Amino acid sequence: MEDGEKQEKVQGPIGPTHLLKEEHRGTLLKLELLERALLYLLRPAEETTLERVEIEKDLLKDLAVALDKEIGLHFRKEEEALFAILADYIGKEYGPIEVMLREHEKLCAAFVRWKKIVSPFCRSGAPIDEAVRKVVLDPGLRLVNLLRLHIQKENQILFEISESSLTGEEKKEVIRRIHAISAEEK
Ligand SMILES: [Fe+2]
Ligand SMILES: [Fe+2]
Repeated sequence: MEDGEKQEKVQGPIGPTHLLKEEHRGTLLKLELLERALLYLLRPAEETTLERVEIEKDLLKDLAVALDKEIGLHFRKEEEALFAILADYIGKEYGPIEVMLREHEKLCAAFVRWKKIVSPFCRSGAPIDEAVRKVVLDPGLRLVNLLRLHIQKENQILFEISESSLTGEEKKEVIRRIHAISAEEK
């Protein structure tokens, strides 16, 4: 029995970070597609076809909408569920939680700015020139990299700390809050 409890504490049942990591995997897949679309659109015109450019632009538009929706919700789950409870152990004024909160703000602001530019670009039939590369495509790639780095830090640092610090009851509470936020959006 004791061994079983110990085992549960070490590996956990399905813990809250497992749920959040699952969401990270979904986001990373979208980022992969987004990066491919951006890299295609960055090719010199003679290496692209009009038909494929349209397909990639449509994909870009759909991915921007999907990411917009899921990132905001995911950040709320981290902030209101996991970070709020983990803060009792490691504080939130400085250290990993504070770093992640600042990154959330930065990522949200960058994403909002980028999405405003992407929508009209995806609708327009204008050729892809230097200005488009500079304001739409390059910032898009930077955003992909920032989000990947953010996810990597959470998976490797913050989630590891959570799994080893939180008690079983606290993990259950984090999961309850995560489900409550998911339910709100339905
Ligand atoms: Fe995050
Ligand atoms: Fe995250």
